[in-house]
Amino acid sequence: MRLKYPPKVRQEHFLDFLRKPETMLYGHLKAHPDIFYFKILNRKAYFIQKPEFAKTILQDNNRSFGKSRAFATLSVLLGNGLLTSEGEFWKRQRRLAQPAFHKKRLELIAEIAAESTKEILDTWVTKNEVFDVMGEMASLTIDIVSKALFGADVQEQVSVVWEEMNFLNAAGINRIRNPFSLPIWMPTPYNRRVKKSIKKVDEVVLGIIEQRRDSEQHHDDLLAMLMEARDEETGEGMTDRQLRDEVMTIFLAGHETTVNVLSWTLYFLDQHPEIKAKACAEVREVLQGRMPRFEDLPRLSYLHNVIRESMRLRPPVYVIPREALEDTALGDYHVPKGMNLVLNVYALHRHPKYWSDPLEYQPERFEHFEGKGAKKYLYFPFGGGPRMCIGNNFAIMELQVILAMILQRFDWSLTGESREVKPEFLITLKPQGGIQASVKPLESTGESR
Ligand code: HEM
Repeated sequence: MRLKYPPKVRQEHFLDFLRKPETMLYGHLKAHPDIFYFKILNRKAYFIQKPEFAKTILQDNNRSFGKSRAFATLSVLLGNGLLTSEGEFWKRQRRLAQPAFHKKRLELIAEIAAESTKEILDTWVTKNEVFDVMGEMASLTIDIVSKALFGADVQEQVSVVWEEMNFLNAAGINRIRNPFSLPIWMPTPYNRRVKKSIKKVDEVVLGIIEQRRDSEQHHDDLLAMLMEARDEETGEGMTDRQLRDEVMTIFLAGHETTVNVLSWTLYFLDQHPEIKAKACAEVREVLQGRMPRFEDLPRLSYLHNVIRESMRLRPPVYVIPREALEDTALGDYHVPKGMNLVLNVYALHRHPKYWSDPLEYQPERFEHFEGKGAKKYLYFPFGGGPRMCIGNNFAIMELQVILAMILQRFDWSLTGESREVKPEFLITLKPQGGIQASVKPLESTGESR
């Protein structure tokens, strides 16, 4: 078979991708429904919008595709953690980390999530004004992931990490989006600030790991599990450096994505009062006024569909980048070694060829959705194949607990500019300008455990 090249899309301005990302991601779907080729300065990329091609890249032929330059930027902060590492090293780390995400562990984390949510919602009772709900969701998810990782006894030390991570996250976005950014080894004032920040983070995280190694005390958290994990073949555990990288990865990967889904869901539910009422009724019926437990979650199925629909229209990870490690093919398209591939999750989730009323918020559509075979790649907010998100069940559990507890206790309305929120395409897909709302306690629910 003679292989061909995908159709080429030209930009009006060479920075269009940065200035008008939504046009780039979604605007070419009609003319090029499956795939197109795009060049910015010396970077070339194929944009993938056909589920079969996404399946080939992430699953069937995943060995021909590696993580791309975007991940190299992240590795400045995350080192060689699960998100950024490759090959045999990644495989071993994934095996070692997997038990930390098993059901038994998630049961404990669901309790942490419910307690932390209760603490923050208790402060909402006296809030009479409009406030930054997205900021509150960020504090909450940070609290949950840091307690899940380190237990409750080092929370003050951990807060330093978060301050620095916020800065480093913004620095990472600049690097990924700015084609002119200077390499990290160049001693510019900005690069020096980045290195200083990483050093601070390292001191805290490595300090916690060292304290653990020196202490006899038993801990029951994700860090303890990672420290105890042993390779089945060699009996070896992780070094302090590896532990640091995995901890930072879980910290970063597990927080911002979840905040975005929470914020978008609060936004969509405000826009669709009938869906909010239905979700609220389900929560009341299932929980009968008490706090959610892990075993309640499968019965909160409408709420689960609400979450899925939010992630369909606003996937936090809206593109998944890869790079061809060898000459290969997608259908009858040639993929030369070194080509960047952008799996266009955003477009696939709303592709008019596959979804009816693709731009409508309709959680009911997931009652009938069967993501089997290539169809799995019509909806893949957590990626797919061997590199699929290790925290997907953690995330769904956390989202269900938090949203159920909000629905159980409060009504909210978005105000002012928040009523028309546009997506902002940063490393993850954020509500531009955040979400501001006023909240009103519902009548007492006689909450108990
Ligand atoms: C709604 C929330 C989340 C979304 C949408 C999400 C999405 C993703 C996606 C798309 C990937 C695959 C990236 C790729 O193939 O290049 C990924 C990987 C990963 N995620 Fe998540 N994630 C979420 C929550 C979490 C949570 C809560 C954690 C941890 C507590 C986590 C930890 C990770 C890790 C460690 C990886 C790398 C896995 C590997 O390559 O082995 N994520 N995530």
